[in-house]
Amino acid sequence: MTTNTNGKLVSGFSKMSKIDKLNWVAQQLTDSEGALEDLKDFWHPKEEIQKLLDEFSENTISNFAVPFGVAPNFIINGKPYVVPMVIEESSVIAAASNAAKFWSKYGGFKTEIISTIKSGNVHFMWDGPFEKLQAIQPELEELILDATAPITANMRARGGGITAIEILDHTQELKNYHKIRVEFETVDSMGANFINSCLEEIASILRDFIPQHPSFEGKEKEVKVIMSILSNYTPDCLVKASVSCQVSELAELDKDHSPEEFAWKFEQAVRIAQVDTYRATTHNKGIFNGIDAVAIATGNDFRAIEACGHTFASRNGKYTSLSDVSIENGVFTYWLTIPLAIGTVGGLTALHPLAKRSLELLGNPGAKELMQIVAAVGLANNFGALKSLVTKGIQIGHMKMHLMNILNQLEASETEKAEAVHYFTHHKVSFNSVSQFLQNLRNPS
Ligand code: MEV
Repeated sequence: MTTNTNGKLVSGFSKMSKIDKLNWVAQQLTDSEGALEDLKDFWHPKEEIQKLLDEFSENTISNFAVPFGVAPNFIINGKPYVVPMVIEESSVIAAASNAAKFWSKYGGFKTEIISTIKSGNVHFMWDGPFEKLQAIQPELEELILDATAPITANMRARGGGITAIEILDHTQELKNYHKIRVEFETVDSMGANFINSCLEEIASILRDFIPQHPSFEGKEKEVKVIMSILSNYTPDCLVKASVSCQVSELAELDKDHSPEEFAWKFEQAVRIAQVDTYRATTHNKGIFNGIDAVAIATGNDFRAIEACGHTFASRNGKYTSLSDVSIENGVFTYWLTIPLAIGTVGGLTALHPLAKRSLELLGNPGAKELMQIVAAVGLANNFGALKSLVTKGIQIGHMKMHLMNILNQLEASETEKAEAVHYFTHHKVSFNSVSQFLQNLRNPS
């Protein structure tokens, strides 16, 4: 290993032993000994589990602990679920649980899978008349299906595989740019590795096929593959979750106003998120609070889910709300339609011991069932957020949940915490009010 003069740049780091990496990192911090202890404190006591965690990623020196909680009382299509959620934000699980409990009284969440197709592309540059590419498409397609057969065999046995192949002309947008767009059904897996393996194979076929094909001449024989990669935009891997009740049944949610007024305000809040991008972003963030938490708990790729969801929210040219509401003939209906490319096999789902437990807690669902659970949780969190926003605001609940964080930050003892929890049941929580409370407790004079 070599480091530069100020010790911040390093080469050969990835080849160092874990303990050397840890020591090197600790040396970057002012209290190296304390830092070393903190980082080591989060090592898993079981060596085999720590090894597993180390190997998920590169340059692992410790684990970053985030709370793993559950939201009970979810009824989805008549089936009860206890939903595992991994999240650090204090009010998210409470919001999901409250919404789940409320809707369990009114039939729970109804969900449906709209579609399950994913896609990927071989992006390439080619100079020639597009009709010539179109003409060879059937031949190329056959070659692709043959060449990818060993990769797709297992997936086909499970009912999935390649479902469509198409060559597309994008030369109007970028000189010589074309792509082979491939659609996939990946059944219970998220399918990223499967899709990317197929695409790389397809790219290599394309590289061989075009130069040797008799219908091409001159520069048409040249093809430059730029890249082969799945698309995380999966608008055809879509699920819908909804809840519905009589407007009069919303009465318990707002003690200060009539249910009609509550419903009206709620609807306006959704309409605002539909027209105002600034609000839509926060509105959708509330949906992803729930979605990401379940995605992480079940070992799914929440970055892919988020990226896709936000693109989907902009599909009509303007970023807007992912959820929608209607109030008709005294019936309140709230729903969320969202693409969710997730899996229950492959990736971390079986490797991470807690992801495995999460799936077990959900009754070992297939991908379609998990999509429906995740969408229901997203809708629950969104409903919970709007309910608070249009009534008492989010800060009361939020700060109540945040109280323990503030107490820990102020190094309150267990007795002080108990007294604070009691006191703040009836008082407004803020950093200052909690700090003042502790000062009074510590210096009664
Ligand atoms: C906070 O994490 C999420 C909310 O801001 C969502 C929303 O405003 O709808 C409460």
